[in-house]
Parts: sequence; structure tokens; C-alpha cells
Amino acid sequence: MIHPVTVCRTEHFNAAHRLHNPDWDDAMNSQVFGKCNLPHYHGHNYELTVKVTGIPDPGTGYVMDMKVLSDIIREEVIDRLDHRNLNLDTELFRQLNPTAENIAVVIHDLLRPRIPADKSIKIVLYETPRNFVEYPG
Ligand code: NI
Repeated sequence: MIHPVTVCRTEHFNAAHRLHNPDWDDAMNSQVFGKCNLPHYHGHNYELTVKVTGIPDPGTGYVMDMKVLSDIIREEVIDRLDHRNLNLDTELFRQLNPTAENIAVVIHDLLRPRIPADKSIKIVLYETPRNFVEYPG
């Protein structure tokens, strides 16, 4: 019996953001988000790992060609987010607070249509070396 295997590709991007809920006043935003609410934004070095799980192809032995996966991540995610202000420079977070959680969900939704439907994907996003989120889709 052939079992599923997970292949993982890690990419990197830098981006600025500010956490802010427009439905709250400044005091509430500051209380909830702390320094992440400072008005002039701040940056993170994001580490993104995309995990693709499926049955290895009998011909190639690959679950998915890592070069193809890398190209898809670059086209859909890195080219859109790298060196951007997430709040201001992308439409993706105009109405969505750019927390690591929400960024992971957005990345999943950008990538999902590009990955073959018979494979599952999971997003792991490090905002700092100690803080990271996982989104299994
Ligand atoms: Ni932050």
C-alpha cells in the first residue's frame, strides 16, 4: 500500500503591517494590540512553509515538483506581499486585520487553486522565530 507523503517548501518575505480594528476607538486598539497598533507600522521577516500532502506519482516519485511549488508560491504570495505594507499596498487586507492568522488564511486561499485538487495543503507562517501559526485549510 502506498501512503501519503508531505512535501514542504519554505519561502521568505518581508512586510510591514499594523494591527487595528476600525470599529474600536484608539484606546481599545492600543489596549488589545499594544505595540502592534502603533500608527506608523512595523515590519516582520515572515517565514512561510507550505506543506503539500498526497500520494507520490508512480512515474516521478514526486508528490509535487518542488520547483513548481516554489514558482507558484513566488507568483501568488511573494510577488504580492514581499516588501509591501500589507494594510496599504495590497487589496487583500483592506478590510482584514493582517494578523499572522489572517495572513495564513489569505495565503492558503491564494495557493489552493494552484495546487492539484487531489493534494491537501497546510500553511505554516512564522511572524517571529517564536510566534507562528498553522492553517490546515
Ligand atoms: Ni506585527
